[in-house]
Amino acid sequence: MHTVIEPKILYFGTSVVLISSLNEDGTANLAPMSSAWWLNQSCMLGLSSKSQTVQNIIREQECVLNLPSVDLIPAIDRLTLLTGRNPVPESKAGRGYRFEADKFGVSGLTPLPAELVRAPRVKECPVHLEAKLVKIHSVEEPSSLVAIEMRVHRVHVEQNLLMDASSSYIDPAKWKPMIMNFCEYFGLGPQLSHSKLAPVFGPVSST
Ligand SMILES: Cc1cc2nc3c(=O)[nH]c(=O)nc-3n(C[C@H](O)[C@H](O)[C@H](O)COP(=O)(O)O)c2cc1C
Repeated sequence: MHTVIEPKILYFGTSVVLISSLNEDGTANLAPMSSAWWLNQSCMLGLSSKSQTVQNIIREQECVLNLPSVDLIPAIDRLTLLTGRNPVPESKAGRGYRFEADKFGVSGLTPLPAELVRAPRVKECPVHLEAKLVKIHSVEEPSSLVAIEMRVHRVHVEQNLLMDASSSYIDPAKWKPMIMNFCEYFGLGPQLSHSKLAPVFGPVSST
């Protein structure tokens, strides 16, 4: 039996993305987010235009999408309720956000130079995607949300996630994404079955 409900959010579970971007003064900002989905070599990011990250992406036209694995939950926790925006927008201040200029320092994460963009990568994340802005789409909602289309131009992956050292295929059995599911953190469970789509996009994992 189903029932009709009116949930405040529809966060049915997506992986957390840690976005690094450059502030106006050349320092780096870091922001966790999770309203992200992937299409071929592009990513769509759902973000509040009141965030420092959106201001930075509009100005710089680029960022790094760092994908944390489950072991980085403590670092993401240290970044929660922080903004690089000064002064803190009223709506965020009311929800307990405070300004933080040194997000790398607070998180304990390490900046690593990127190759194609000026924003740094996050060393501890197993995946770094250097990305450039394609388009900002408005969202038909009474809010400050925008959908930002980013094209990924370079992919860095920790070698032990690969099916074998010389391949370009990430082994799904080795990748442990941090999933935000209705504002709580989850990981993935073990593989349940083989998908008929897997051979179409790449080799099937042996595990
Ligand atoms: C796990 C997690 C997921 C989040 N997902 C989003 C999101 O999808 N979109 C968004 O606008 N903010 C999201 N936030 C809130 C941002 O981190 C917050 O707006 C932050 O102030 C952005 O930092 P900035 O203002 O320095 O860019 C999320 C926060 C956490 C901890």
